[in-house]
Amino acid sequence: MLFDNHGRPITYLRLAVTDKCNLRCFYCMPEEGLDWLSRAELMSYEEMLRVCRVMVNMGIGKIRITGGEPFVRKDIMQLLTAIAGLDGLNELNITTNGVLTAPYVPELKKIGVRSVNLSLDTLDANRFFTITRRDEFSNVIAAMEAMLHHDMEVKINAVVMDGKNTQDILPLVELTKNLPVSVRFIEEMPFNGDGHVYDGLHWDYVRILDEIKAKYPQIKKLDDPANSTAYNYHIPGHKGSIGIIAAYSRTFCGTCNRIRITPQGQLKTCLYDDGVLNVRDLLRAGTEDDKLQNILRDAFKHRPKDGREAERARIAKTGIHESMATIGG
Ligand code: GTP
Ligand code: 5AD
Ligand code: SF4
Repeated sequence: MLFDNHGRPITYLRLAVTDKCNLRCFYCMPEEGLDWLSRAELMSYEEMLRVCRVMVNMGIGKIRITGGEPFVRKDIMQLLTAIAGLDGLNELNITTNGVLTAPYVPELKKIGVRSVNLSLDTLDANRFFTITRRDEFSNVIAAMEAMLHHDMEVKINAVVMDGKNTQDILPLVELTKNLPVSVRFIEEMPFNGDGHVYDGLHWDYVRILDEIKAKYPQIKKLDDPANSTAYNYHIPGHKGSIGIIAAYSRTFCGTCNRIRITPQGQLKTCLYDDGVLNVRDLLRAGTEDDKLQNILRDAFKHRPKDGREAERARIAKTGIHESMATIGG
C-alpha cells in the first residue's frame, strides 16, 4: 500500500481525460467555454495508460475517469477498455454529464464498469437549460435509465445553487423513492472558470439537510463507506439513498486517499495545489517506469496536510477561479 507523508493511504486516482465539455454549467465555465488544450498538450491514450499501469503497480486500486466530459474525447472506449484490463485494478468508475453516455452503457458494463456518477442538477428541462446553457436534458435522463437498466450503481451529483435549483432538492430526493439511485447534493465551490461571480456559499451541508428533514423527518443517517465524500442518508421505504457532499464547508483532507492527473498531465496531490509535476513531460522525456515510480513516490511524500486554507488565501489574493473542468473535479 502507498502512504503519504501524513500516513494517509493513497488508493484512488482521478484521471481527467479532456478539459472539453459539451455543456456549459455556469458554476463550472463561461458560455464561450475555456481556452481548450491543443491535441499536443493533451496526454495521449498511450501515455495515460502507461501512467495508470505504473500507479496500479504502486498500489492504486481505484481509477475514476473525469473531464471535462470524458465522452467528448474521441475513441474513449479504447482507453477505458485498456484501463479496465489492468492487472490489480479493483474499480474503474466514471463521472459524466450523461449527454453522450447512453449508447455506451452496454459496453461499459461489459468491460466491468459497475458504478457511474452522473451530473444532474435539476429534474426540470427548462432549469436544466438555464444551468447548463444546452438543451440536453432528455439525453441525460436516457443515460440514467440505460445505466439502471444495466444494473449499474448510479450516483447523481447535484450542485445546490441559491436562486437556481433549490426548488429541485425535494424532487431529487423524491427520485430515490422508486429508483435505486444515490442522489448527492454538493455544496457549490468557487471553481467556475470565472463563468459567474461566486458570492459565497449560501447552501451549506446543514441547510441542505434541514430542507430535506423538514419534509422527511424520518430520514436516517447511514454508515458512510471509507473515504466517502458524502454523508449518506436513507428515507425508510425508499429504494435509493441521499448523500450530501460538504465540498466547501468541511474538509476531507484528514482521510484524503486521492490524487489527480489533469488532461495535460499535471499531477495534483491535492485538489488545491496547482500540480506538483508533469507526468506527460516525464514520459515524453523518455523516463523509464522505475524512475517514474520513484518520482511519484517522492511527490506523495510531500502532500499538504490541509489544502483548503491555502486555496482560500490564494483566491482572496488573486481572485482567480479555476474551472472544475480543468481540475477534473
Ligand atoms: P465516489 O468515488 O463515488 O466517492 O465519487 P467522488 O465523490 O469522489 O467523485 P465525483 O466525481 O462524483 O465528485 C463529486 C463531488 O465531490 C464533486 O463536486 C467533486 O469536486 C467533489 N470532490 C471530489 N473530491 C474532492 C476532494 O478531495 N475535496 C473536495 N473538497 N471535494 C471533492
Ligand atoms: N462546485 C461544486 N461542484 C462542482 N462540479 C463542477 N463544478 C463545481 C463547482 N463549482 C461538479 C460537477 C460534477 C463533479 C465532478 O463536479 O457537477 O458532478
Ligand atoms: Fe461540463 Fe461538468 Fe463543467 Fe458541467 S460541470 S460544464 S458537465 S465539466
